[in-house]
Amino acid sequence: MSNFDIVIIGSGPGGYVSAIRCAQLGFKTALVEKYSHLGGTCLHVGCIPSKSLLDASELYDKALHQFKDFGIEITKPTIDFSRMIQRKNEVVEQTGKGIDYLMDKNKITVFHGMGTFKSSNQLEVKDEKGNIKNLEARYFIIATGSKPANLPFAPADKERLITSTEALNLKEIPKHLLVIGGGVIGLELGSVYKRLGAEVTVIEFLDRLIPTMDGGLSKELLKVLKKQGMKFSLSTQVTKIERKGDKIFVQAVEKNGKEIRFEGDYCLVAVGRKPYTENLGLEKAGIELDDQGRIKVNEHLQTNIPNIYAIGDVVRGPMLAHKAEEEGVLVAEQLAGQKPHIDYNLIPAVVYTWPEVAGVGKTEDQLLEEGRSYKIGQFPIRALGRARASGDTDGFVKILADEATDEVLGIHMIAARAADLIADAVTLLEYRASAEDIARMSHAHPTYAEAIKEAALEATEKRAIHS
Ligand code: FAD
Ligand code: NAI
Repeated sequence: MSNFDIVIIGSGPGGYVSAIRCAQLGFKTALVEKYSHLGGTCLHVGCIPSKSLLDASELYDKALHQFKDFGIEITKPTIDFSRMIQRKNEVVEQTGKGIDYLMDKNKITVFHGMGTFKSSNQLEVKDEKGNIKNLEARYFIIATGSKPANLPFAPADKERLITSTEALNLKEIPKHLLVIGGGVIGLELGSVYKRLGAEVTVIEFLDRLIPTMDGGLSKELLKVLKKQGMKFSLSTQVTKIERKGDKIFVQAVEKNGKEIRFEGDYCLVAVGRKPYTENLGLEKAGIELDDQGRIKVNEHLQTNIPNIYAIGDVVRGPMLAHKAEEEGVLVAEQLAGQKPHIDYNLIPAVVYTWPEVAGVGKTEDQLLEEGRSYKIGQFPIRALGRARASGDTDGFVKILADEATDEVLGIHMIAARAADLIADAVTLLEYRASAEDIARMSHAHPTYAEAIKEAALEATEKRAIHS
């Protein structure tokens, strides 16, 4: 039996970041991970590998379509897909080594094996060879993350009918990739294969893409991705998926009741993710789930069992790496007697298509629902000198501000580099800037950030300079 102050189960961005913060605060900390590598979904089959393939495919796309216009003549670029995948694996491996180093540096004891509660203060860890260790702790933090959700009538065969995990590790570029779900995964991985030459058709149940983000972004992204050659079937309900040899057939019904059939060689199912609590022994510890299978927690991320906390994808809230990290830090600091706080309204969301899509704060839909009077300032990216110089002119920045007080309530953008620009938007909302505050701040010229200032000028008195 080993004794710790805190045992954390799961080494994704929630778990390993929490472990570091716990160790920094002086707790004797252990981290339990069922796989032989640390980093979780985000590092191995999520954020990092997808961004590696997005960046690689974007470079190829630029070489193919933009170089000539910039005055760069090259022979037609070709794709070495296995090298692209190998590079992605190298990026993952190097980042994984970084986490191993951080565990050593912070003197965190790592156990590789499946963690299963035997009681509310005892966890069994069983490794691949069947060896068992029992851990006792004052506190446990569950950070076991999530897995891809399947369509109930068509579980993934992981060869042709695939989830994001397989889509990040294909042996060939699909000829025609069917994507079910026009959310973040569908559009990011759809973009990768579109740029690499596949035909890509996205089938979405709702009448819009990325439904949790501001409606203006959904519309603009649809327009931009269509321009890039992606095909879309919105308001379409998939009813059946069949595989015949190397072909996949998707049967669906449109809103007007018309039946429609799609044929491809791969089908990516990206209809959301579900919390992962299998083999965790929650019943032995007496931990309750909510109606969506997530671990039930209060505002302190404490489960119904007082010494057990849960964070990240396995609890309510957006399934995002940075949200999991913040929660991991919050729990550690609370256990050390501090009074941390997370403002969930200020967790930014990003979609790494090109241009990128990002938003923070309230969407227009949310403001309408709350009955709050607001004003809008919107500025087109194409009006920026920098955008023309870089050749990335699609998109806009939109600022939503309170009608009466001018306080900025939401900032939403679709633009080159939006993923990085959104950090400024978070700062502005955190410090409760007014649109006029932003409009009066100097923004370096020429940058994409100028669109934020111009949108603020629009929101203040409809007085953008360059539109
Ligand atoms: P996870 O990262 O899922 O980690 C949980 C860990 O717990 C896993 O390693 C698992 O093996 C381990 N585990 C589970 N059960 C046990 C057990 N009983 N015993 C021991 N170990 C156990 N988010 C972003 O913010 N930005 C992005 O760009 C982004 N891109 C993504 C792209 C894709 C394709 C996918 C699928 C997801 C992406 N996400 C992104 C979401 C992000 O990966 C998750 O929100 C994040 O990984 C959640 O972190 P977590 O720590 O809660 O869980
Ligand atoms: P998602 O929730 O983003 O999108 C799922 C989409 O599928 C929705 O548009 C939904 O309406 C649609 N859908 C659901 N059932 C359907 C059906 N039967 N037929 C057709 N469409 C259907 O989920 P996704 O893309 O699977 O991603 C899972 C999670 O991973 C997200 O919640 C996201 O937070 C996280 N993620 C984050 C990324 C980022 O931050 N850039 C990148 C990738 C994933």
